[in-house]
Amino acid sequence: MSEKKVILTGDRPTGKLHLGHYVGSLQSRIKLQSTHEQYVMIADAQALTDNYDNPEKVHENVIEVAIDYLSVGIDPSETTIFIQSMVPEIHEIAMYFLNLVTWNRLKHNPTVKAEIRQKGFGESVPAGFMTYPVFQAADIAAFHADLVPVGDDQRPMIEQTNEIVRNFNRIYKTDALKEVEGLYPNVARLPGIDGSAKMSKSLNNGIALSEDLKSVMKKAKKMFSDPNHTNIEDPGQVEGNPVFLYLDCFCSDTQKLAELKEHYTRGGLGDGSVKKYLGEVLVEFLEPIQTRRAQFEQDKGEVLNILKKGTVEARKKAAKTLAAVKEAMHLNYFK
Ligand code: TRP
Repeated sequence: MSEKKVILTGDRPTGKLHLGHYVGSLQSRIKLQSTHEQYVMIADAQALTDNYDNPEKVHENVIEVAIDYLSVGIDPSETTIFIQSMVPEIHEIAMYFLNLVTWNRLKHNPTVKAEIRQKGFGESVPAGFMTYPVFQAADIAAFHADLVPVGDDQRPMIEQTNEIVRNFNRIYKTDALKEVEGLYPNVARLPGIDGSAKMSKSLNNGIALSEDLKSVMKKAKKMFSDPNHTNIEDPGQVEGNPVFLYLDCFCSDTQKLAELKEHYTRGGLGDGSVKKYLGEVLVEFLEPIQTRRAQFEQDKGEVLNILKKGTVEARKKAAKTLAAVKEAMHLNYFK
């Protein structure tokens, strides 16, 4: 048995991944994969909870997200990448978990509440959507995860998972399930290029990892910065300025960045030239990722093979947990 701590994490395949995903979670997954037993799930079943009427979109994006993972450097020889819907054991565990959560508790999950508002479900929230945190708890518990590296919008999911795990272990007098810790990025969430808090497809304010490089330059030039910095000679504000937030994440020349910040704060440095520099930094970051993406796009068969292999691995692990769960619940009729 490996002594490594287990990581389980994942994304809904509803679109290509963007720079926000990179900063929020991909980066830590890449860093942690060599020292941890890492599972990365492409959460297609969860994606269907708010896209049940668009299965083609989810299907397509499973492969796109897999290619995003592979091209940023999630290495299938170190990380098990798998497709959620192909691991039925998770869904079986989730079904038993549903008994351990109240409807009222689900209604008060802040992430779910915000999503219901944003998606305009009103009173007609699909039960599958309402209960997706329970399924997410099963995703995590099925793998005996120690750590879940996710964006901080996922905090309520981790809390919900631990409540269910504690309830399960107490009610069924077992230690079959394990509590988990969220691992959150130590940098603030990357804002959209328009300065709004989150990158979203509908606002077209994000930069995809697969974004055309010319479009990257254009978006960098359009980026929201210090709105009060109208004259180049005036001092500008670095703090909370999206242009500098992006540079903090993607510029590896720390000395140059420190100088730019100092100059901008002092006055005399125009937004145009900082944004142009940001564009160059982003292009330099994205270019090698996109070169690898192009290779995987040429060989989708290989991508599917990686997913298939990962899914077989993942099922083995989840099946063990399911057996322990059923044992604890006295659902063990035939030896
Ligand atoms: N909720 C995550 C998202 O919206 C995806 C996800 C599903 C996940 N299951 C998970 C993340 C388990 C971490 C752990 O992208």
